[in-house]
Amino acid sequence: MYTGFLHTHKLVVLLFLLLYVVKTALLLLNQKESLAKITKFTKVPEMILSTLFLVTGGYMLFNKPEIHYFTWIKVVAVFASIPLAVVGFKNSNKVLAALSLVLLITAYGLAEMAKRRVEKKEVIVEAPAGSTIDAVTQGKAVFKAYCVACHGEDGKLMMAGAKDLSVSQLSDADVKNIILNGKNSMAPYKNVLAESEINNVVEYVRSLRK
Ligand code: HEC
Repeated sequence: MYTGFLHTHKLVVLLFLLLYVVKTALLLLNQKESLAKITKFTKVPEMILSTLFLVTGGYMLFNKPEIHYFTWIKVVAVFASIPLAVVGFKNSNKVLAALSLVLLITAYGLAEMAKRRVEKKEVIVEAPAGSTIDAVTQGKAVFKAYCVACHGEDGKLMMAGAKDLSVSQLSDADVKNIILNGKNSMAPYKNVLAESEINNVVEYVRSLRK
C-alpha cells in the first residue's frame, strides 16, 4: 500500500509539475488563448490529480516513522504555492504564477534531498555479560539505531512499506545491495555506515530469519 502510494504520488507530482510549467510558460508568453484552452481541458484531470496528490501525500506523512525537516519545508512550500497559483492565474499575474511554480519546484527538490538523507545516529553495542561481542551483536546495535523505525526489532514491523525481514529470501549480497543503495522509501546507507557496520548488520538481518 505505502509503496503503491509512493509511486502514485511521484507520478502525480511529475504530471502536475509538467502541467504547471506549460501553463506558467503560456502566461509569461502572453498566450492567453492557448492558456484558456489548456485550463479548460485540464480542469477535471487537475481536480483528480490534486485529490490523488493530497491523499497519497497525507497517507505517507502519517505513516512515516521519522520525518526529515526538509519534508516539513516541502509541505509548507506546496501549501503556500496553491493560493499563489489560484490568484496568479485568475488575475493573469505573472509574478505570482512564477513564484508559485518556483515554490513547487523547490518543494520537489527538497523531497528529492530528504529522500536520500539519513541522520548519523549513535550505535550502542550491548553485549550480554560474559559473552564475546560477535558480528551479530554489533549488527544488532546498528540495526537498533537505524533500522527499527521501519523494520522493528524482530524485522516484522513493515512500516512505510518495509518488507518483513524474518521471511525475506534475499541472498546476503542482495541484502547488502539494498542497504547500500536503498529502495523505494528505504534510504541508501552507503554514506552513513562503515563497511564493517554494513557487514555486521547483514549478519543480524540473516539472524532474524527462523
Ligand atoms: C524508512 C524506512 C526504512 C528504514 C529506516 C530501513 N528500511 Fe529496510 N526497507 C524499507 C522498505 C520500504 C523496504 C522494501 C523496499 C522494496 O522492495 O520496495 C525495505 C527492504 C529492506 C530489505 C529487503 C527485504 C526483502 O526481502 O526484500 C532489507 C534486507 C532491509 N530493508 C534492511 C534494512 C536495514 C539493515 C536497515 C537499517 C540499516 C533498514 N532496512 C532501514 C524501509 C526501511
